[in-house]
Amino acid sequence: MQLWGGRFASGPAAAMAALSASTHFDWRLAPYDIAGSRAHARVLHEAGLLDDAELASMLRALDDLEADVRSGAFTPTVGDEDVHTALERGLLDRAGPELGGKLRAGRSRNDQVATQFRMWLRAAARRVVAGALDVIDALVAQADRHPEAVLPGRTHLQHAQPVLLAHHLLAHAQSLQRDIDRLRDWDVRAAESPYGSGALAGSSLGLDPDAVAAELGFAAAVENSIDGTASRDFAAEFAFAVAMLGVNLSRIAEEVIIWNTTEFGYVTLDDAWATGSSIMPQKKNPDVAELTRGKAGRLIGNLTGLLATLKAQPLAYNRDLQEDKEPVFDSVAQLELLFPALAGMLGTLTFSTDRMAELAPAGFTLATDVAEWLVRQGVPFRVAHEAAGESVRAAEERGVGLEELTDDELAAIHPALTPAVREVLTVAGSIASRDARGGTAPVRVREQRDRLVARLAAH
Ligand code: ARG
Repeated sequence: MQLWGGRFASGPAAAMAALSASTHFDWRLAPYDIAGSRAHARVLHEAGLLDDAELASMLRALDDLEADVRSGAFTPTVGDEDVHTALERGLLDRAGPELGGKLRAGRSRNDQVATQFRMWLRAAARRVVAGALDVIDALVAQADRHPEAVLPGRTHLQHAQPVLLAHHLLAHAQSLQRDIDRLRDWDVRAAESPYGSGALAGSSLGLDPDAVAAELGFAAAVENSIDGTASRDFAAEFAFAVAMLGVNLSRIAEEVIIWNTTEFGYVTLDDAWATGSSIMPQKKNPDVAELTRGKAGRLIGNLTGLLATLKAQPLAYNRDLQEDKEPVFDSVAQLELLFPALAGMLGTLTFSTDRMAELAPAGFTLATDVAEWLVRQGVPFRVAHEAAGESVRAAEERGVGLEELTDDELAAIHPALTPAVREVLTVAGSIASRDARGGTAPVRVREQRDRLVARLAAH
């Protein structure tokens, strides 16, 4: 028995075909393949390679094929290597071998697949943007529902300074808004059609790549046919944009998970967006948030896997490139599962605003306010920082809050610490005082909310 010797006679050929086959994932390119075939038929006609009657018959055959693909009457078989091969078979069946056989002139699966993959991704980018907008809407709706709610803002996960809940939620919306911008920027670069590049060197048949590009919704044809067939940075950049989006969603999810713990007690999950335990009857788990966090890892993996596939490939096309599609198809599929669930969970969270308000000043979160108040009284910040720090130490020793220090205690720490300092020793006073652009004061949060919504509406 040997592993390789007889491979051409029997088994190995089947294994070769099994390795090579891609219809189980590239069949979703079928509508784009057919659209490309229509455009290609027209440039063949323009170039005098199809007469009027042939063009009409070809377009009719392509319409029939499209209808059969859509209805499921035409599907790939095990003998079809990829979507392009399958559709070629379908076309030959419908147009006849004589006419059908003319369509392959001047194109290659290399330029076809590069074009169709871009088309699929450009449509997917629009769906991803719509899904991200739904998550932003849920965040904005919660911000609107809680214009005055406060919580302890954190750095290092430790209480830092009080902030508005709306300010915090809108911070997440900002990062998602940039993810949307990134996908829109990406589309500008992705809007070049490789069709007409042929296998790599371009076509000798007088075909017009720009006409195909325009028909397929691209801004232009690629500048360079070798680049057109060999490059996949459009796919990698897309994979990054969606992985970054996944990471940003994961950071929201992580906070919901923490907020939902008994220790935090900031939020209650709606029953529709939580799961139970098969053994512990009391459990209500934040699975939507955990799956969001988990899938972010998967999206990162899809990006790094794709980059690794690309890194050592010489120009132009190599069959390795067939590995380019599944990672990004998967990333999009995962996001499409996530968006409605995450938007649903976020939109139905109940915030325990009393609990959050109670914790907002805890851990001496108003200490910075004391220091900055002293600065406004003319005390150098270095001295003010020391005095506020001593106030924290004094309060901590007595087991009280900063606002409970007596006038005498404050005066003993620094003569400038008069009773007037108490105006900033409240959460509301602290929040209202941070009123520069981007700050947590209600008026500023309202502005940033309105600018965000206006900007999203403008697209
Ligand atoms: N299915 C291939 C891919 O996805 C395209 C076919 C190119 N094959 C070839 N032998 N040149 O990349």
